[in-house]
Amino acid sequence: MRVLVVDHPLVAHKLTVLRDKDTPSPVFRLLTEELVTLLAYEATRNVRVEPVNIETPVTSTIGTGLVKPTPLVVPILRAGLGMLEGMTRLVPTAEVGFLGMARNEETLEAITYAERLPDDLTGRQVFVLDPMLATGGTLREAIKFLFNRGAAEIVCICLLGAPEGLSVLEEELADANVTIVLASIDERLDEKAYIVPGLGDAGDRLYGVVH
Ligand code: URA
Repeated sequence: MRVLVVDHPLVAHKLTVLRDKDTPSPVFRLLTEELVTLLAYEATRNVRVEPVNIETPVTSTIGTGLVKPTPLVVPILRAGLGMLEGMTRLVPTAEVGFLGMARNEETLEAITYAERLPDDLTGRQVFVLDPMLATGGTLREAIKFLFNRGAAEIVCICLLGAPEGLSVLEEELADANVTIVLASIDERLDEKAYIVPGLGDAGDRLYGVVH
């Protein structure tokens, strides 16, 4: 497993505005998309490509095309949905699948409540979108699920991570072909497993509180 923290002043700036508790939902949604596009630029560095022959108005040349099947993007519902537009803006031909996961707030265990993915992911490169890597439970289950379907490589794009969650993933996935790309690794989790300093509940900040 590899961990990449994207070190760029615009990433740090956009993340700072996201952290601010006074940033309203519409701005939060827009900034999340912009931030994901910046993270996705780094996260797709090893996206599979092949040479393609093309004709320019002047001559023939060899360019670069995405290998088919194109990457599969999997936002983890609910909050990962807020990252989808930022990702598909960069890779418009990507396929999109959905995984609905929630954590039980008492046990903190991840539960899968919805799934819309190809049955066979053999050899596929998969990009998972989940804004908050807190305990690591959700991402661990999502990664296992995708490898069980045959995925060859998984790149997770997160806005924030906690050291505790990263350790959980590192312990279980040390030798796996997994890369975690983040804007920041924060200090710690609090007693409710929120990331500190964090940005609060990403789903609520994107979409409002659901009662
Ligand atoms: N999920 C969130 O939305 N925020 C956290 O801080 C932790 C988990």
